[in-house]
Amino acid sequence: MGSGGDSGLRSAAWFGAADRDGFLHRSWMKSQGHPADLFDGRPVIGICNTASELTPCNAHLDGVAERVRRGVFEAGGFPLEFPVMSLGETNLRPTAMLFRNLASMDVEESIRGNPIDGVVLLCGCDKTTPALVMGAASCDLPALVVSGGPMLSGKFRGGELGSGTAVWRFSEEVRAGTMELEEFLEAEACMSRSAGHCMTMGTASTMACMVEALGLALPHNAAIPAVDSRRLALAQLSGRRIVEMVREDLRPSRILVREAFENAVRVNGAVGGSTNAVLHLVAIAGRVGVELTLDDWDRLGRGVPTLVDLEPSGRYLMEDFYYAGGLPAVLRALAEGGLLHTGAPTVDGRTLGECCAEAQNHSEEVIRPLDRPLCAEGGIAVLRGNLAPDGAVLKPSAASPELLVHRGRAVCFSSIEDYKARIDDPALEVDETSVLVLQNCGPRGYPGMAEVGNMGLPARLLERGVRDMVRLSDARMSGTAYGTAVLHIAPEAAAGGPLALVRDGDPIELDVPARRLELSVAPDELARRRASWKPPPSEMTGGWQGLYVERVLQADRGCDLDFLVGCRGARVGRESH
Ligand code: FES
Repeated sequence: MGSGGDSGLRSAAWFGAADRDGFLHRSWMKSQGHPADLFDGRPVIGICNTASELTPCNAHLDGVAERVRRGVFEAGGFPLEFPVMSLGETNLRPTAMLFRNLASMDVEESIRGNPIDGVVLLCGCDKTTPALVMGAASCDLPALVVSGGPMLSGKFRGGELGSGTAVWRFSEEVRAGTMELEEFLEAEACMSRSAGHCMTMGTASTMACMVEALGLALPHNAAIPAVDSRRLALAQLSGRRIVEMVREDLRPSRILVREAFENAVRVNGAVGGSTNAVLHLVAIAGRVGVELTLDDWDRLGRGVPTLVDLEPSGRYLMEDFYYAGGLPAVLRALAEGGLLHTGAPTVDGRTLGECCAEAQNHSEEVIRPLDRPLCAEGGIAVLRGNLAPDGAVLKPSAASPELLVHRGRAVCFSSIEDYKARIDDPALEVDETSVLVLQNCGPRGYPGMAEVGNMGLPARLLERGVRDMVRLSDARMSGTAYGTAVLHIAPEAAAGGPLALVRDGDPIELDVPARRLELSVAPDELARRRASWKPPPSEMTGGWQGLYVERVLQADRGCDLDFLVGCRGARVGRESH
């Protein structure tokens, strides 16, 4: 593009010409001490860094970036690191998901507007991975993901503690009176004892598996612990590889083909991955023009067993997963079972099948064989019916088998604040057969679609030993959570979906094997309720939240903003000052 040197690289349009513009671009860069030969037409590699002390899961990424930089130099490239918006799941309010698309815009425009030929994406905490991949996919320059890696396993009073999953379990125990508050607080430091992201198969680990399954990362990216020296070696190899990828013009559009998404959907079932992956993969696919639907998720996931015995569906943690053989061992098992498109391309340069052909499973307890899975049906179930015309999702491996077919009466909460105010009210008419219904927590209603869909049970039921109930909402659920939770109901209540019309006492029928979710209320009564329905009052203050609410797509479309869908390429309108 544009004038510049004769290297054929995009960055030559900035650095290649012996004219005024070339002078401007090179001179200011030289203020950082770069020698002249770095501007000789070698590939310029962006290192897109989400390190932030406010995103504890990514706080160590500067060290990873250093190793990527070393690899880029070794391969003859010119590394230039740049920061982008970082999304910390535990700190950001109202929810990090509200900012995934904003961060993707930051990434997209930072790549496109700068003299970059290829980019390494440093991700970790939940939303940072889809945000960076979405932004890079919309630019379509060679891109490779290096995840920060999971924390070491939590250790507490002789046992292990899984990120998030233990918090949900312990907080219920405290409310049930079976755990002391002191013990609960002591567990804090024991759970998060090293750098890295959540070490359960939460959303961060799931998305790290997804990028490896999609072919966007080198083998073993998903599971090497953050503090394991092999994570740094992987970063260095990734730095070398991205330089080659630029020379091969290996762009996301050549990697993110339909087969890659189909592989990722199946891998999500095999690892017992998060329901959040549904939203993120649909949104990533939208950026590269691949139509991935909820029905694809249901169809492809059927018959895929969960092999990886990790919390929250199972027992072990990411550290165990890596020592057992990591994702390549799972990919090999799926390939041997005919459940993988082995010819799918990867950033490694080999096909996905070639990348896992030699993989070994060192523990059939952690990575189960196909004929002895943790859960026979590991895929995400997509439910439809008059309560979810555009679909809803449920993770069978995290649900109670006896609740997968259930009929119960609704106990409704119109917002998360309403839920918090009334869930332990002695006057609340609820028992273990009830269906807890949470409204107005979807993409527009919350806004940002909070992770509150696994709402805690009433304390008086917990005290009686009840540990699961059917719960319905237009919200999301943390990937570290579990329970019989129907999530992502679309259209959401705040957009006038049927969920908004549910009232206390309405009979609700859930039939996961039949993929049905029905509200047993007469159509004329529903029509009456619809006539008097008003959208919930908005507390919108304009700015980003205003734009988000106006343009966000519903959950079945991945919650991208409508105007961000698609690949816009790397071409810059105006090419010089
Ligand atoms: Fe960051 Fe779980 S809070 S990965």
